[in-house]
Amino acid sequence: MLAASGLVKHYGGVAALDAAGITVERGEVHALVGENGAGKSTLVKIISGTVRPDGGTIELDGRTVQFANARQAADHGIAIVSQELMTFGDLTVLENLFPFGGPGRLGLVSTRAMERLAAPVLAELGLRVSPHARVETLSLADQQLLEICRALLQDPRVLILDEPTSALPREAADRLTETTRRLARRGLAVLYISHFLEEVLRVAQRVSVLRDGRTVLAGEEISAVSVDSLVTAMLGDTGPAPAARRERAVLGGSSLSLTGVGVPGRLREVSLTAAGGEIVGLAGLQGAGHLAVLDAVCGRARPAAGSVRLPGGTVPRSPRQAVAAGVAYVSGDRKGRGLMLDQSLWENATAVRRLGLGRDGFVPSRRRLVQRTERLVHRLRIRGGPYDIAARLSGGNQQKAVLAKWLDADPAVIALDDPTRGVDVGARTEMHEIVRDLACDGKIILIASTDLTELVDVCDRVLVFQRGRITDEIVGEALSEQALSLAMNAGFAAPS
Ligand SMILES: Nc1ncnc2c1ncn2[C@@H]1O[C@H](COP(=O)(O)OP(=O)(O)OP(=O)(O)O)[C@@H](O)[C@H]1O
Ligand SMILES: [Mg+2]
Repeated sequence: MLAASGLVKHYGGVAALDAAGITVERGEVHALVGENGAGKSTLVKIISGTVRPDGGTIELDGRTVQFANARQAADHGIAIVSQELMTFGDLTVLENLFPFGGPGRLGLVSTRAMERLAAPVLAELGLRVSPHARVETLSLADQQLLEICRALLQDPRVLILDEPTSALPREAADRLTETTRRLARRGLAVLYISHFLEEVLRVAQRVSVLRDGRTVLAGEEISAVSVDSLVTAMLGDTGPAPAARRERAVLGGSSLSLTGVGVPGRLREVSLTAAGGEIVGLAGLQGAGHLAVLDAVCGRARPAAGSVRLPGGTVPRSPRQAVAAGVAYVSGDRKGRGLMLDQSLWENATAVRRLGLGRDGFVPSRRRLVQRTERLVHRLRIRGGPYDIAARLSGGNQQKAVLAKWLDADPAVIALDDPTRGVDVGARTEMHEIVRDLACDGKIILIASTDLTELVDVCDRVLVFQRGRITDEIVGEALSEQALSLAMNAGFAAPS
């Protein structure tokens, strides 16, 4: 159905693609994987007409095609859900679903026709929203699903999904992978980009790997690969050697504490302490309350009962106060948030400090700031330099830049919410090392993650939440994915 070959794309001196290609057949889900910055998004942007290649060919059903823009690719039956958020917040769900006005020309009739067309597609993806809701009122996950609905309503022959599950909670992600397989069975050709390799093995029939802009594994049968073999193909021989583990002691001393904290509708009588040097996980199903703890610590949720005390004794009454008291908040919700996309990496990486928000409020010279950024770029292995504009970094590198911004501010408490969403496996391991290093330096780390392996990998202990309360604590050796999953789902009676 689709064959791209010899694709080349340079951005200034950077070769984003250098002899890349892929073939996707009717009825298959074809996964495309590779490190952050390997060129995956660039490849699919070329196929979908939003980026013009410097060389190479694209064939559809054996015929060479050239797209001057996205509309032409769409006319050929190619639909893409890109990695960046592409919804229009001030328009309604329906207006977003039919950007070209939908079927028919008469307002009323076409609105009803649009609703009729949209309903089964919304239902298939489990998106329960009013067609007339303004899109900015939807959660990020729902906006992601909305974009997928929009692509499906184009009735495409080729559907391209660039990290479709990176903004979705577990249940929605599972539903989406199911839907994707079903669509392929109906004859669609699906090109599927993801950093979740287990998910790739589940959803795809074939897989291709990009490394440094080249196709290094082309259309391998999924039965012939494993997570390990994919990682090896992605990283090549230059994969990072695991850093030596530093010994770590819980320092005690200045700690963070919640005492009998209640947040209406979210938390009930929650008490916990986290000491310097500790990595404390927060787990729970959607709405269980674990994320409300992060909000309370970051000054975004004001407790109606009890108190939150940061090290040093500050009670965080606003996000600004929390930041000034040394609280960093890193979220994996990176679709355009958390960064000033039109500014350079150094401006982003040093933003907290430059705005005088950090603990010391002292702003070094620009030269020093750029140097600091260079060190962070190196430490986090960000593909890009201090002067690169954030919007031009690949998705995963943007996420690393969000972390860089907070590391630069030298926080005392680091609150992490799904920090490695969209980050490739190699970089994920490195980010975990960095989190451990930060704990070694005496920082207090709170981490929530929809990825249970992440909690098992980095935490000393995990607090499990149900219905706004802590219902379990899993420590050290007992910490496993199964134990967490059981505790999160079990119908424990809430302790009094
Ligand atoms: N508009 C642009 N201007 C300059 N450089 C760009 C631009 N778009 C992409 N690049 C560069 O091209 C390279 C490949 O980026 P691409 O977005 O294709 O990576 P990716 O494989 O999708 O990564 P990720 O997994 O992080 O999303 C990166 O080094 C990126 O910085
Ligand atoms: Mg990408």
